[in-house]
This record gives sequence, C-alpha cells and structure tokens, in this order.
Amino acid sequence: MTKNIVTIGGSNSKKSINKVLAEYAGGLLKNVTLTKIDLNNFEMPLFSVDIEEEQGFSEGVKKLNELVEKADGFVISLAEHNGAYSTAFKNVFDWLSRINGKVWRNKPMILLATSPGERGGQTVLDIALGRFPYMGGNIVGSMPFPSFYENFKDGDIVDEELKSNLLKLVENLENAL
Ligand SMILES: Cc1cc2nc3c(=O)[nH]c(=O)nc-3n(C[C@H](O)[C@H](O)[C@H](O)COP(=O)(O)O)c2cc1C
Repeated sequence: MTKNIVTIGGSNSKKSINKVLAEYAGGLLKNVTLTKIDLNNFEMPLFSVDIEEEQGFSEGVKKLNELVEKADGFVISLAEHNGAYSTAFKNVFDWLSRINGKVWRNKPMILLATSPGERGGQTVLDIALGRFPYMGGNIVGSMPFPSFYENFKDGDIVDEELKSNLLKLVENLENAL
C-alpha cells in the first residue's frame, strides 16, 4: 500500500517558509501520499493543566493526533523563535504529548529547520534532535536550511549542495518506510 507521509511546518505563519520546505521535501519522495499539515487548521487553546482537566482535548488536538497515528513517516521543518520552538509548535507538541508521550510513535522522520538567517534554525534543530528521541522520534536524517530566501527560489532549491544533501535525507526516509 502507498505510504502516508505527514508534512508539518512548525509555525502558524500563513506564509511559513518551514511549511514550504517541509512540503517541498515531502514532494521529493517517490510513491507516497502526502498529508500536509497547517497548524492553523487545528484549533486548540494554549496548553494548561487546568484546561486539560476541565475541558479535555479539543477537536483540533484529537484530529491532529489521529493524523499522526495514521502516518507512516514525517517530514517536519521547525521555525526558530528566539532560539527555540515557535509557540504554536510547542503548544501542539505539549498537547499531543498528553495523549501519547511517544508523540512520533517511532515512525521514521526527516527533521529540518529553516530561517532567513545563515544558521537556518540550527539552534531549534539541536533542541529537537536532543528531545524528539525521547518522544518516539526516529530521525533518519536532519539538516538546517540556511538563508531560505537566497537558497529557495520559484519553488525550488537553487544551491546544489543543499539540494543534494536534502535528496540524501529523502532517500534515507524512503529506505526506512
Ligand atoms: C518572535 C520571533 C523570533 C525569531 N527568532 C529567530 C531566531 O532565534 N533565529 C532565527 O534564525 N530566526 C528567528 N526569527 C525569524 C524567523 O526565522 C522567520 O520569521 C521565519 O520566517 C520563521 O519561520 P516560518 O516562516 O516558518 O514561520 C524570529 C521571528 C520571530 C517572529
């Protein structure tokens, strides 16, 4: 059966460059169905133990958890806000972790980060590389994607080395499915 890959841009920006990059990388995979997640489409309050106790999980959290459950693998690209996860992504991560602490269910994942800066989200990437393995993260490859607007133009990667590095990660994911 065709494998189902969930792509996630770790941001709630309507013009998220991380969403663009995650979906682009997903599009390089052969013979898969892509489920493209836009965090804006999943309603949930700011996580609080009190809201969890009083109201339980919102429909948005439950829906997102279902999509994660049905996935065969992930392509995630994280936005970096002040050297950390965006609030939107951290909120989703916290809510999902309350349903299943192994959020990523040991399914293979490519982990990316991009920003307009030269480090390309390396700091948030390092945070996730340190944390995701404790949360069921099976990371088969990762890379920061620096200076997004210089290196990604008209829907494609213009820097050959970056493109070839990403293609290697895509191959790793294909082999792990
Ligand atoms: C509150 C805030 C903090 C930011 N902090 C960082 C940062 O620490 N490092 C960085 O490279 N870019 C930082 N940026 C710039 C983001 O990388 C840029 O907005 C990028 O487009 C975010 O990804 P997105 O388009 O997927 O939301 C920050 C942006 C905002 C709004």
